[in-house]
Amino acid sequence: MELTNISGLRGEITVPGDKSISHRCVMFGSIASGLTEVTNFLPGADCLATIDCFRRMGIEIEQSETSVLIHGRGLHGLRSPSLTLEVGNSGTTTRLISGILAGQPFESKLSGDDSLNSRPMRRIMEPLTQMGANISSVLRNDCAPLYITPGHLHGIDYSSPVASAQVKSCILLAGLYAEGTTTVTEPSLSRNHTELMLKEFGADIRSFVGNMKSSAHVSAENEKICATASIRPCKELYGQKIMVPGDISSAAYFIAAGLLVPDSEILIQNVGVNPTRAGMLQVCKDMGGDIALLNERCVGGEPVADILVRTSQLHGTTIEGGIIPTLIDEIPVIAVMAAMADGTTTIKDAAELKVKETDRIETVTDNLNAMGCDVAPTEDGMVIHGGHPLQGATIHTLLDHRIAMAFSIAALVAEGTTKILDSHCVDVSYPTFYDTFEGLL
Ligand code: S3P
Repeated sequence: MELTNISGLRGEITVPGDKSISHRCVMFGSIASGLTEVTNFLPGADCLATIDCFRRMGIEIEQSETSVLIHGRGLHGLRSPSLTLEVGNSGTTTRLISGILAGQPFESKLSGDDSLNSRPMRRIMEPLTQMGANISSVLRNDCAPLYITPGHLHGIDYSSPVASAQVKSCILLAGLYAEGTTTVTEPSLSRNHTELMLKEFGADIRSFVGNMKSSAHVSAENEKICATASIRPCKELYGQKIMVPGDISSAAYFIAAGLLVPDSEILIQNVGVNPTRAGMLQVCKDMGGDIALLNERCVGGEPVADILVRTSQLHGTTIEGGIIPTLIDEIPVIAVMAAMADGTTTIKDAAELKVKETDRIETVTDNLNAMGCDVAPTEDGMVIHGGHPLQGATIHTLLDHRIAMAFSIAALVAEGTTKILDSHCVDVSYPTFYDTFEGLL
C-alpha cells in the first residue's frame, strides 16, 4: 500500500465491532445454554479464529458478515476437537480459550502463526498449573503450541504481576470449572469486558477496584491501586443478545487522523468508551486535542458515545502508570501523534508493548526513525521529540496490524510517499480499514 499526504478529512463514519467483546461473545455463548445472538460482530481474522475453534469443538455457529448466532451447548457441552485448534495471530483466542480448555474432560492442542507461537504463555501456564490444570508448552519454550489434558481444578487467589485482561480472563474462565472461589488481583485495572459480560450471562462474579468509589474512574492517580475479580462456579450460563459497540482501538486511527490532518472534522459514531479502554481520549485532551464525546449512552452494559474530532495543534505529554493498560493497543498511533506534537512525549510503564504481535517498542521507534522522527526506545516505553515534519518512508509492519494502521496515519501527514509493507495484515482486526477513508474524502 502506498500513501501520500492529504488534507480535509471530513464526514461521519462508524468503525467495526469491538475485537475483545466479539471474541468473548463467541466463547461465552458457546459454553452458555441456548442461543446467543450477536450483532455488529467484528469479522476480523482473530475473531474468525475463535469461531473456528469452537466449531471444531462441536458448537454450531452461524456467521454472516457482522451477525452471529451461537447455539450454546452449556458449560459441559464442548466436544473433543479431533485436530489442533488453530488460533492464527490471536493472543486473546489463545489465552482465554486455554482457561476454558483446562476445565474440559478431553485433551486439546493449540497452535498459531510464527508471531503467536513466540509470545509468552508462562503467564497463563503458571496460574492454571496452580489451579491443578495440566498445560504444557510442546516445544518447552513457554510458548504455543500448547498441550492441555484433563485436570481437577480448584480455586486460587492469584496475584498477577502484570495488568493483563488476557491473563485475568483465562484464570476467571478456568474458575468456572474449579472447586471453590477463584480470585485474580492485578496491579491496575485492565479491560473488564470479561467481568461485565460473564455477569450478564449469569456467572457468579464480582469485581473490586482498590478503595475507589467507582471503577468508572481510571487515571494516572489510581496507579497504586489494585483491581480484584472473583468467580465461583455456577450451574449454568444463559445465552444473550449482544450488540457489540464500535472498537475504540479501531476508532483510534481516525481520532488521530482527525487531529493531525489539516482542515479535518470527523464524527466517529457508536464507539465503546468503557473507561478501562478509553485512556487515549484523556491523552488526546492532555495533548491539546479538540475532541468531544457526544450522545453518551449505555448499550448492553457497555458505555458508548459518538466521538467528534477536529484538527488541532498538539503538544507533548507524559503517559505512565495506571492509564497504560487502558490504552495499551493505541500506543503505536499515540506515538505517531506525539511525533507531530510540539515538544517531548514520554511513554513509561509500558513494557507489555514488547510482548504484543511484535515488540512494539522496537517496531514503533524503528519506523518513526525511518520517517525522520527523533525518538529513542527505553526499557518500558519511548521518548519522542516531536514537532518536526515526517518524511515518507518504507514501513516494516512485520505483519503487525496496529503498526500498519498507525503508520498509515503517519503517511497522511508525511512529506512524500510512504510504503506500508504487508498492509493486508490489517485484516486481523480491521479488514475494511482502508475503505473507511472513502467516507471521509
Ligand atoms: C485483550 C487484552 C490486551 C490487548 C489485546 C486484547 C483482550 O492484551 O492488548 O489486544 O481482549 O483481553 P493483554 O491483556 O495481554 O494486555
